[in-house]
Amino acid sequence: MSKLWNDSLTTGVPQMDEQHKALISRIETFDALCASGQTHRALDELLPQLKDYVQYHFSEEEALMQRLAQDYGDLQLHMAIHQRFFTQVVEMEAQRSQWGDLQTAMRMRTYLHDWLVQHIAGTDQALARQLLAQHLVFAR
Ligand SMILES: [Fe+2]
Repeated sequence: MSKLWNDSLTTGVPQMDEQHKALISRIETFDALCASGQTHRALDELLPQLKDYVQYHFSEEEALMQRLAQDYGDLQLHMAIHQRFFTQVVEMEAQRSQWGDLQTAMRMRTYLHDWLVQHIAGTDQALARQLLAQHLVFAR
């Protein structure tokens, strides 16, 4: 499907996997625009879409966490991690006038890749295991 996606990212929770793939596909569109020299478009058009989707995805994931309630000891931490990610993206965008389009896009790209893969492979996998173990969601 894509260069960024690999099997270690599959959580087994259908809605999480679908959303993660959709997120990755937006990041890859961002990359493709950058690779073809359209960093301005990547930042002006794609980044807002990506941020909207990230917000939707985080709220969906947080709703899944609520199903575990007290059994999910990482609820506050996981929500804080999401918040920190979003703040970081907004702060990087705010540097655009200083950094310029190319540098902003490149830094954003590195941050998005690293964060997403690490977050899905770690924090999200742990959440998914717990949801599946408690039969709060069903694997496809
Ligand atoms: Fe997450």
